[in-house]
Amino acid sequence: MNIDYRLKPEAERRGESFKPDKPLPFGVLRTDHMFIMDCEDGEWVNPRIVPYAPIEIPPGAIVLHYGQAIFEGAKAFQHEDGEIYTFRIDENAKRLNYSAEVLCIPNIPEDMQIEAIHALIDVDRLWFPQQEGASLYIRPFIFATEDSLGVHPSSSYKFMVIMSPSGPYYPKGFTQPIKLLITKRFHRAVPGGTGSAKAAGNYAASLRAGEFAKKFGASQVLYLDVTNTYIEEAGAMNHYHILKDGTVVIPEFTDTILKSITSRSIMELAPKMGIKTRQERVRLDDFVEGVKSGEIIEAGGFGTAAVVSPVGEYVFEDGSSLVVGNNEIGEYSKRIYEYYTGVQTGKIEAPEGWLRKVERRV
Ligand code: PLP
Ligand code: COI
Repeated sequence: MNIDYRLKPEAERRGESFKPDKPLPFGVLRTDHMFIMDCEDGEWVNPRIVPYAPIEIPPGAIVLHYGQAIFEGAKAFQHEDGEIYTFRIDENAKRLNYSAEVLCIPNIPEDMQIEAIHALIDVDRLWFPQQEGASLYIRPFIFATEDSLGVHPSSSYKFMVIMSPSGPYYPKGFTQPIKLLITKRFHRAVPGGTGSAKAAGNYAASLRAGEFAKKFGASQVLYLDVTNTYIEEAGAMNHYHILKDGTVVIPEFTDTILKSITSRSIMELAPKMGIKTRQERVRLDDFVEGVKSGEIIEAGGFGTAAVVSPVGEYVFEDGSSLVVGNNEIGEYSKRIYEYYTGVQTGKIEAPEGWLRKVERRV
């Protein structure tokens, strides 16, 4: 791919490594540049890296009316050798194309996506945050730009990548378990819908439930399936629970659950961590019973932004509550968090192909 570099003048770019003096929030800061590529009638053209700035799209753009948009969330880490490595970026690229298929968007070859992301990181490598637990969060996305009010797949799109030096998704990081609301009132996804894709509309549809959760002091909703029988996932992470024999149970991936790269990675790393994992449909009743009986000793969420976020308490709409693991971070969750972040940061050997070094091109 022939990327056109239209960079900021050197004097306006970050000139030294980024050492934040306060804990970094998630997703707020931006780096100096962004990647853009256009799609006209199925052809991806004009790849470029330009200063981070507002973009122009027609007010009639399909994305603004009908939400034809998808995105990914990935991370890069700086290792002790001073180099930056993306983590399982090929899996993000694959999933973006899966989401593209679900939303009738033309796909982008995986190697093209990876090249775009690596080229952008290379340009803005000094933005990598020098702070424990922080990373460079990468947000690739595609949206429909055709100026049309008819409901149909757009004939034009933009693929963009922006980046955010970020701290943990939940401000307290791994120091305090979170609280989730279990409600039968809202659902995130329906069978045959877009729940297994990273479609922007899924997140728009979750906002009301998220605000409702806040009224209960919860960070997010733990969604149930449409029959209110099975546990599905939270708004920004898969769910897990851990049995007293150390088995990690993750709800089976159906078409209403996002196939989390974090969950899949943890399942692959499980033998090395000395834990067992399995996936099954998790009945809410069994889960509640298991927590009460002490059969389930830990629970939480897995995700790129959330990493491993232990849950200490579930609240219900009637005000009742279910405490898991004494509302403390359990030993298994700690072990998984430490091993997983060790792999990401190069302190523990990663399986072949999981980490890709960002080469220096500019
Ligand atoms: N589920 C949902 C709905 C998400 O938005 C995310 C975040 O990406 C996840 C699960 C976790 O997926 P991953 O581990 O691939 O980031
Ligand atoms: C991620 O974990 O990367 C996500 O995309 C979740 C997001 C909603 C913050």
